[in-house]
Amino acid sequence: MYKSCVAALVAALYWLSAPVMAAEGGPIVIKFAHVVADDTPKGKGALLLKQLVEERMAGKVKVEVYPNSTLVGDADEMQALFDNKVQLLAPSMSKFAPYTKKLQVFDLPFLFDDAEALQRFQKREAARQLLRSMADHGVYGLAYWNNGLKQLSATAPLRKPSDAAGLAFRIQPSPVLEAQFAAVGAKSVVLPFAKVYESLKGGVVQGAENPWSNILSQNMHSVQPYITETNHGVLDYMLITNNEFWLSMPFAVRSELEGIILEVTQAVNREAAAVNRRDRDRILASGSSQLITLTPEERQAWREQMLPVWKTYEAEIGADLIRAAMTVNRRR
Ligand code: LMR
Repeated sequence: MYKSCVAALVAALYWLSAPVMAAEGGPIVIKFAHVVADDTPKGKGALLLKQLVEERMAGKVKVEVYPNSTLVGDADEMQALFDNKVQLLAPSMSKFAPYTKKLQVFDLPFLFDDAEALQRFQKREAARQLLRSMADHGVYGLAYWNNGLKQLSATAPLRKPSDAAGLAFRIQPSPVLEAQFAAVGAKSVVLPFAKVYESLKGGVVQGAENPWSNILSQNMHSVQPYITETNHGVLDYMLITNNEFWLSMPFAVRSELEGIILEVTQAVNREAAAVNRRDRDRILASGSSQLITLTPEERQAWREQMLPVWKTYEAEIGADLIRAAMTVNRRR
């Protein structure tokens, strides 16, 4: 008991002193690691954050950006955050299931009609509270960063839900996504983002779900001859830090950083749709994949088949939260 108290005290002193000491001896260094390419909504956001901090907080804070899983990847990034080896991450909501069940709301298929609905939800109180949903684990949510709506890509044309039956799709580590593919008779394989391209190329999986920006920047279209424009779900991020690290910075430094983060967040979320539109055009221009667009009736068939997933996860997520998310759609 005595030993563990001393250990806790030593750890607390370390946390309290480390960034301050860094400020005295040089700038506080913030390592921002992520798994995507620079020219994506998240990658651009990370670089803009670095640039604005360089311009406005030189000598006080320095942001180092590690894209493309170069420092840490899906498997070890959260542990690195807990160990203060990295100080900023922006994982997708689908990667937080071990820490809170509530964020699974973002994985429910066909919940948000479009990216604007998602943005409306994220401004609401229910979503603001979710930024604190991992506080028990010492995770501090700073902001929501949008990517885009997900499309289904595969080695076979997918027009009806039954076309996916028997195919294996790469998924992020989310039980909701596993249930979503099971609902159409498909298999799913959890793989880190850094392994998606080679797994598609090598035939470990036949399909995947991604926004256009991730398909293009990982060159997935070159090994996926068909892309169905389903817009069936969102790929969205939470910019997170370690609570102890964040609070150990002097108040004025933290406030200035939070101001910059707000500005960067607005830029990321303003431009995410345009980046995805640009990347959709580039994929189509490359001629490598055939685009399958669905009629409203065809899309409705996918929706109906996947909708029971909501009920399965309602108790874990909370019916109130699902309702709060649904109300942002204009047509309901
Ligand atoms: C994925 O694993 O597919 C995404 O979460 C990658 C990302 O960060 O966009």
